[in-house]
Amino acid sequence: MRVVGLFLVFCVDILNWTGVYGSWEEWWTYDGISGPDYWGLLNPEWKLCNRGRRQSPIDIDPALLLYDPALTKVHVDDTKVNGTLTNTGHSVRLVLDTGGGAGVSIQGGPLSYSYRAHSLLLHYGRTDDKGSEHTIAGHAFPAELQILCYNHNLYENMSEAVFKTQGVVGIAVMFQISDASSPDLHILTSQLEKILHKGQSASVSHLSVRSLLPDTSQFLTYEGSTTVPGCHETVTWILLNKPLYITKQEIFQLRRLMQGDEKNPKTVLANNFRPPQPLYNRSVRTNVFNHDIEDKKCFNSRKLFYKGNVGGTVQWLD
Ligand SMILES: *[C@@H]1O[C@H](CO)[C@@H](O)[C@H](O)[C@H]1NC(C)=O
Ligand SMILES: *[C@@H]1O[C@H](CO)[C@@H](O)[C@H](O)[C@H]1NC(C)=O
Ligand SMILES: *[C@@H]1O[C@H](CO)[C@@H](O)[C@H](O)[C@H]1NC(C)=O
Repeated sequence: MRVVGLFLVFCVDILNWTGVYGSWEEWWTYDGISGPDYWGLLNPEWKLCNRGRRQSPIDIDPALLLYDPALTKVHVDDTKVNGTLTNTGHSVRLVLDTGGGAGVSIQGGPLSYSYRAHSLLLHYGRTDDKGSEHTIAGHAFPAELQILCYNHNLYENMSEAVFKTQGVVGIAVMFQISDASSPDLHILTSQLEKILHKGQSASVSHLSVRSLLPDTSQFLTYEGSTTVPGCHETVTWILLNKPLYITKQEIFQLRRLMQGDEKNPKTVLANNFRPPQPLYNRSVRTNVFNHDIEDKKCFNSRKLFYKGNVGGTVQWLD
């Protein structure tokens, strides 16, 4: 009887929640009974979140990276674009305008097709010791920028591509806190004031996605999924091997955003990261060749020992 009672309470709760949020699409969170451990149970269409074996994010084990000299540089167009920055309640998202032939193309590296940048997402922590979705040797960064792009050789738009083979590319960059940040990042952070609550938006113009990215041709890549429901396993991830810098002031501004709207602000929007998922039998490839390796056999075995965690801090290879 007791079990039945609990079940009913739970159902009623779901009805209330869907009433408040309007649609199933939004009925998930980063903690509690609608948090990442339960995403796959909330909606049958999201079952990959619990059962998938090619899920993202992952923890990168530097000892398991495979060196692949065939991985060429990733090319990102240096076009300036406009977009709309929104507090979605789950994240800060910039959707780029793609009308009238505008857009940023991405190709090369592990990609066989040309991709078009669709949106930028920010994941960040309430404190500096966590926030990124991907981690390196168990180390999390205070924030992670993800640029999601869809295959525009094969598909019309992101909504279609996310379900399709070779549909999506995610470029991920970790943040480190520093005294100065990039001017292009400031184009985004200067608008945060206007999107304190869920549903608020601000226009962004003349943003160069390429200048926003750190200047490096080195990256890690693996096959994974979207890191929000439905966890579609259609994403090639490219993790750049250099951080972006963000000031303390900017990260404080991010931590002032709220998960709810003006009437019901709920709680602070932060810690919006999915924890690392099992790697299972995937490999993570890289074009970073660590010249410090003395034992040349490492090269022959195509195995790289990325200098990932030295004295507790992650070292970025130049
Ligand atoms: C971007 O917006 C500015 C106005 O803020 C406009 O002048 C410009 O034409 C827009 N660019 C594109 C590519 O739409
Ligand atoms: C995306 O493309 C598909 C296929 O052409 C189309 O049916 C759909 O309406 C498009 N969706 C959006 C949001 O533009
Ligand atoms: C795949 O990974 C699982 C667990 O990580 C391991 O037990 C299994 O042996 C692996 N299979 C192959 C074919 O490597």
